[in-house]
Amino acid sequence: MIAQGRVTVNGKVVRELGTRVDPARDHVKVNGRHLEPVQPHAYIMLNKPKGIVSSLSDPEGRPTVKDLLHGVSVRVFPVGRLDSDSEGLMLLTNHGDLAQALVHPRYHVPKTYLIKVKGVLTDDEIKSLERGVELEDGVTSPARVKKVRKAEQNSWLEITIHEGRKHQVKRMLEAVGHPVSKLIRVRFGPLTLRDLAAGEFRYLTDREANAVRDLVRDRTSSETREQHHSARNKARVSSRLTRREPPSSPRPGSGSTLSSAEGSRASARLSSPKSGSSDLGRATPHPSRGSMRRSA
Ligand code: URA
Repeated sequence: MIAQGRVTVNGKVVRELGTRVDPARDHVKVNGRHLEPVQPHAYIMLNKPKGIVSSLSDPEGRPTVKDLLHGVSVRVFPVGRLDSDSEGLMLLTNHGDLAQALVHPRYHVPKTYLIKVKGVLTDDEIKSLERGVELEDGVTSPARVKKVRKAEQNSWLEITIHEGRKHQVKRMLEAVGHPVSKLIRVRFGPLTLRDLAAGEFRYLTDREANAVRDLVRDRTSSETREQHHSARNKARVSSRLTRREPPSSPRPGSGSTLSSAEGSRASARLSSPKSGSSDLGRATPHPSRGSMRRSA
């Protein structure tokens, strides 16, 4: 490609093999199309303090998490959000697909919060949080709640949820009559805040980054498996619904089966509107099921 003069650097054709470029400064084109530099993935854990906005910019000019990332030259984005008066673990990354999967409600990534609430919850109130409480945007999905300690007027709890609705934990506790006065996210998927001080950040270790990637891979691949499974089941059901016994089809025990070509011909013939009544009510297995399944 280079020898053929199809590569330009800063507008000039380069023909010398091994020409070096600085991806941050040089503008490289191949066949006239800009080549995006490949950025290595960066994963940062931040302990967001109270009073900091969890986005990268704020229309009201309040300090944001970006202000805390001193010396980070990679453009990373927050994965999900924390209220400005909430604290704790935030993940920031430039790995867009991973970030999207981590916050997608479909993948149920667990988030654990240490919260200080007014008063002490009864066992029934805890059970109702665990089962799901009615909020204006619907009933919450099951949560895990653990009592941590009791103070005079307040108590501390740990709550794990798998959704990420706006102000969800505060609204859940409000719904059972115990407003939250402090909220710290201590776990996010496989990541734990541990002793990272408020306002500090660090890059994830390889082990942590792998754990996050594995979590997403497991969740997305189990979803793909489920989709295949459900597509297969749908195909089976539809094959059962459209299948009628062809005049020459074998009887059970006759030892002969339809070939797949015969099966699909039979299926096409039998599902045509001319073929008569529907098979919906059939309760007994159809004799040709085995061979038809093979032809699906
Ligand atoms: N739930 C909340 O209510 N606030 C947060 O910041 C996070 C979860």
